[in-house]
Amino acid sequence: MGMGGHFERSEDGDEGHIRALQTGIDLGMTLIDTAEVYGAGHAEEIVGKAISGRRDDVVLMTKFSAEHSRALDIAAALDGSLRRLGTDYVDIYQPHWPNPDVPFEETLGAIDRLIAAGKVRVAGLSNFDAGAGKQAVSLLRSGELACMQNEYNLVERTAERDLLSFCAANDVALVSYSPYQQGKLLKRSPQTELLFELASQYGVQVSQVILAWLTRISGVVAIPKASTEANVRANAQALEIIIDTADLARVSAAFDVAPSLIPCDQIDVVDASDDRTVYRSVEQALANPLRMSPSPRQLADEIIASGGRLQKPVKLRWHSQSQRYSLVEGRLKYWAWVIAYGIESPIPALIEDGKPE
Ligand SMILES: NC(=O)c1ccc[n+]([C@@H]2O[C@H](COP(=O)([O-])OP(=O)(O)OC[C@H]3O[C@@H](n4cnc5c(N)ncnc54)[C@H](OP(=O)(O)O)[C@@H]3O)[C@@H](O)[C@H]2O)c1
Repeated sequence: MGMGGHFERSEDGDEGHIRALQTGIDLGMTLIDTAEVYGAGHAEEIVGKAISGRRDDVVLMTKFSAEHSRALDIAAALDGSLRRLGTDYVDIYQPHWPNPDVPFEETLGAIDRLIAAGKVRVAGLSNFDAGAGKQAVSLLRSGELACMQNEYNLVERTAERDLLSFCAANDVALVSYSPYQQGKLLKRSPQTELLFELASQYGVQVSQVILAWLTRISGVVAIPKASTEANVRANAQALEIIIDTADLARVSAAFDVAPSLIPCDQIDVVDASDDRTVYRSVEQALANPLRMSPSPRQLADEIIASGGRLQKPVKLRWHSQSQRYSLVEGRLKYWAWVIAYGIESPIPALIEDGKPE
């Protein structure tokens, strides 16, 4: 993600991106994750160029978008991905996000048929919870689920609730996306101080301490995105680095912060840093002109039905000048929460860099 554009096509830096992926493969980082939505398809084209002539050296995982969760749409989406990737099969095919409008049986049945046709080797899920994982294991014809791909990093720890134990019990890999929290964990801040301290003590890089922490659990696979040669090499070398278990436990504890409860009316919804649009009012969210799926209304119903459980907290930034928070991530969740419980209700949130006392 971010190679070939975020959600719109960009050809900036194509050559460097292809080289970065190829360097990764040369160094043994042969699991490549992409999605039809990244760069509006261009990320898959870049991956296709990078693996050209060495398809069998890599394990290729891609995703179809939530709006393509119907059986016919999945088949068409896969054909598009295969064309862009320049291959006739993907190793792991994943729904990118749940779609409550489509029965899960239909989506998984369609993947089963693509497996039978030899176009997919095995199914995975992206952004689904442990309950959906259990359902998938029982619904899929082979009973085999390769992975659950979820955000899992030092600050986003929801996977520790029940996803990691589900994965361990069912021989499913937990694919940790945004392992560096999109680079934010690599910056010096009071919160990351311990990482810098350990990096200097062990003579390694902060990124490598983070990867050592993530992969301390067998069955967790991290998929950092790196577009420079130096970063690719650092990520590959992390596999050889050993950090004492006691130090990893210190890291675990230092970042294990319970979400705060912040009233929704103290949060400003601002433009996203990527090219995604945001709703500005609850009326707009209810009308859902962008046809988000699930819609904020549907997600609100799900949240109420689950007794106020969010799949993961929203992320906020504190602004001392205005004495308000801005929404960094979780636009759909934010509006769903407002629809469910009102604008004054407190929403579970992680505050980037914390709020100064
Ligand atoms: N399923 C989903 O919904 C979902 C959502 C988000 C992400 N993902 C997947 O997860 C992948 C990674 O997540 P992400 O891109 O969100 O964030 P990330 O991997 O946590 O962070 C990427 C950032 O870290 C930098 N970086 C990488 N290695 C580094 C190193 N060794 N030293 C210093 N900086 C380094 C990169 O810089 P350079 O690029 O300049 O090297 C980039 O700015 C995505 O590419 C995508 O495949 C999936």
